[in-house]
Amino acid sequence: MKVTVVGAGAVGASCAEYIAIKDFASEVVLLDIKEGYAEGKAMDLMQTASLNGFDTRIVGSTNDYSKTANSDICVITSGIPRKPGMTREELIGINAGIVKAVSTSLVEHSPNTILIVVSNPMDTMTYLAHKVTGLPKNRIIGMGGALDSARFKYRLAEALEAPISDVDGMVIGGHSDKGMVPLTRLATRNSVPVSAFISEERLNQVMEDTKVGGATLTGLLGTSAWYAPGAAVSGLVQAIACDQKKMYPCSVLLDGEYGLSNLCIGVPVILGKNGIEEIVKIDLTDAEMAHMKESAEGVSKTNGLLDL
Ligand SMILES: NC(=O)c1ccc[n+]([C@@H]2O[C@H](COP(=O)([O-])OP(=O)(O)OC[C@H]3O[C@@H](n4cnc5c(N)ncnc54)[C@H](O)[C@@H]3O)[C@@H](O)[C@H]2O)c1
Repeated sequence: MKVTVVGAGAVGASCAEYIAIKDFASEVVLLDIKEGYAEGKAMDLMQTASLNGFDTRIVGSTNDYSKTANSDICVITSGIPRKPGMTREELIGINAGIVKAVSTSLVEHSPNTILIVVSNPMDTMTYLAHKVTGLPKNRIIGMGGALDSARFKYRLAEALEAPISDVDGMVIGGHSDKGMVPLTRLATRNSVPVSAFISEERLNQVMEDTKVGGATLTGLLGTSAWYAPGAAVSGLVQAIACDQKKMYPCSVLLDGEYGLSNLCIGVPVILGKNGIEEIVKIDLTDAEMAHMKESAEGVSKTNGLLDL
């Protein structure tokens, strides 16, 4: 199992670290455009191997795609992150060019790969990766919902004063402050709806805190977060690499599912060795569906800014 991670910055390095620690891949190639940067991160991470007890080989590469050849899974984290006060959509000008070039080079060297897109604005970058590579739709996956759901569970546990392992919940829709659709109605504490424990007002607060989860961290850190994004990507990579058939909300190309077409947006999917094995259809209320449609309009508007 060979995994390439493009972008050895905060998210890329964190993702490579979590993949290595879980020890299911034989090789992780870390590639960056900055001279020596990926080699340095790879060497530093390899020096944690004996301490953390993993055998995954981590290799660095300065823009040499021959080292990525025949990767089973490729992750794209290259591009600029948000600064405080910025929206993810504002990154499109620079990141679209980067994602276009990177996804083309990756697929040239690994024609059978499954691509995971992380760079923001993620739903639009996933759509762009489809347009430029022409890969089958089961092999291009945008990561956003797994992270947003983890942030949702964190906020739910905080509100319920419960351990996080007690709560379950999912966020679908676009990966943006306005576009996220946290499914509060379906969130549970050990199978009991969370509404049995907290007021509607508190639940609405959880929803709002979840939606601005990334912006809150950007305000605190001065740049966007990396531990939870890296862990979320590693979860997706493991589900595919180990054919786990796990369900995650991911940004995928829709063709009529949820009444939406010709865009990538977060919906629940089953991940396994073929990438997206199935798009899971859940019954949404009229209000949830309206929220999803509004979110899709936002994503389509951002897609319209692409120079295709
Ligand atoms: N989808 C999500 O849930 C999610 C979560 C967090 C961050 N992000 C996004 O991930 C991206 C990376 O964030 P970060 O915090 O790691 O940024 P970062 O600046 O720490 O790292 C980005 C790296 O990409 C490299 N890079 C730039 N152009 C490249 C190219 N053409 N080829 C190879 N490498 C290139 C840079 O040299 C840099 O090392 C941002 O767009 C950010 O918004 C997405």
